[in-house]
Amino acid sequence: MSLCIRSSSPSRRIRTADERRESQFKCTCWMVGILTLWSLGALWVVYQEEMRESYLIMKRLMRVRWLDLLTNSTVGLESHHPLIRGTRIEGKEAVERFRNHLACFSESGQWVHDPVPRHLPWNSMGDVEASICDERHRRIQGRVSDEKAEAIATTGAFMDWSVREELKWVWQTNSSCTFMPVDRDDLCKRIGSRGNVMVVGDSINNEISWSLMNHLLPSYTTGLTRLGFETRKTDGVYEMCADVLGGAGKGFKVSFVRNDRLSAVRNSSMDKWKNLWHNWEFPWLHLLSEYDVKLLLLNRGAHYEEDLVLTEALNRTFSILSTDFPDLQIIYRNTPPGHVRCQTYNKPLQKRQDDWSLPRDYYWADFYRQNQLSEQIVKEFQYIYMDVDTMLSLRPEGHISRSDCLHYCLPGPLDLSIQYLYNILLLL
Ligand SMILES: *[C@@H]1O[C@H](CO)[C@@H](O)[C@H](O)[C@H]1NC(C)=O
Ligand SMILES: *[C@@H]1O[C@H](CO)[C@@H](O)[C@H](O)[C@H]1NC(C)=O
Ligand SMILES: *[C@@H]1O[C@H](CO)[C@@H](O)[C@H](O)[C@H]1NC(C)=O
Ligand SMILES: *[C@@H]1O[C@H](CO)[C@@H](O)[C@H](O)[C@H]1NC(C)=O
Repeated sequence: MSLCIRSSSPSRRIRTADERRESQFKCTCWMVGILTLWSLGALWVVYQEEMRESYLIMKRLMRVRWLDLLTNSTVGLESHHPLIRGTRIEGKEAVERFRNHLACFSESGQWVHDPVPRHLPWNSMGDVEASICDERHRRIQGRVSDEKAEAIATTGAFMDWSVREELKWVWQTNSSCTFMPVDRDDLCKRIGSRGNVMVVGDSINNEISWSLMNHLLPSYTTGLTRLGFETRKTDGVYEMCADVLGGAGKGFKVSFVRNDRLSAVRNSSMDKWKNLWHNWEFPWLHLLSEYDVKLLLLNRGAHYEEDLVLTEALNRTFSILSTDFPDLQIIYRNTPPGHVRCQTYNKPLQKRQDDWSLPRDYYWADFYRQNQLSEQIVKEFQYIYMDVDTMLSLRPEGHISRSDCLHYCLPGPLDLSIQYLYNILLLL
């Protein structure tokens, strides 16, 4: 206290009683202020630790519950006759080798900066939202497509390649499972030898269906349009790859149906569940035969529901699919969470965000757990599980805007899903 008084009144002159009281009062105020701040700080640290602790405990409890649930829920199809449905992969060893190879894609890899100019799947067609990044791009004004896009993507000195920074990163795996870049003509042939593709899922799978089509277009293509999922006809807007598959009529189509729950509904519905968004469910199962679909890409996850609801719904859908469409090739993609304050990043993360720091209202912290749940069910039903979460959870840049840190711009990090699809097809 004396130190404090002295410093606040350095002059030698004798102070009046009033002055002394005033200075003592000031000093007390300071001490109280500092103490309060310190206590608040300490409380905040304790609170953070508590949150983390209770989150970890909750996670452990959840794990017990869902493992329990899984062992009881599925019939153990797997153990009787291991295979991957709709493929030639059969037998315990072959199935294991295939799955380990896919796991190696995700687990042995890292994001590497590669500034060599190259062709990109420009958003020549796609929804309007996903093209926003190019409108914001410093050197690219307006939506880019056609020759202009190709010129931007394939020319320029290494250090001066004028595409968005997030387009310069590639996923590099180890030599046990080289992750090949997409060869457009080869991708056309591999899908073409199967037939039509259907993508079913939420708005991110909508983006993925556009990304797929943009990968399948020849170097540049004119006269295409961007559509929202509501205005897009589900039967596949354009014929793909006719040029490498023997001419008009020989190509295939990529259709998309929005169904956030992958539910077997007969009539369309739109409702609000727990989270903030509208949830769409359009009927799609009857279209599989109507459109002659041979390759089906599925996902659910971003529109959160509780574990038991999710597992039962997947079980129901896969039960129908495996019974009614036994030869269909099905690839199920998992769900990466969005990123907090994504606009502040300009390069990939070294490690994924802590689940406990993610916003609760979108349930992002639950995605990792639910991915593991879905993986078990997908594998029990002998379908192909595509883990993009491992890669994309490291990509905070390239999201649509500061208020949408979940969806990605196209082209962008999400294109990795099509590269993953290509690498899966190379193995089948
Ligand atoms: C799973 O099955 C075991 C044994 O049949 C039972 O004790 C357990 O309660 C079941 N768990 C759930 C979640 O149903
Ligand atoms: C999974 O689906 C099948 C067929 O619809 C059903 O018989 C079984 O009870 C379901 N299991 C669970 C855990 O929901
Ligand atoms: C590549 O990574 C996988 C999975 O991490 C590992 O099993 C494998 O041994 C690695 N291969 C080489 C050549 O390092
Ligand atoms: C679907 O819609 C039709 C016509 O509006 C109605 O007749 C039918 O009952 C509905 N089906 C279901 C399962 O809700």
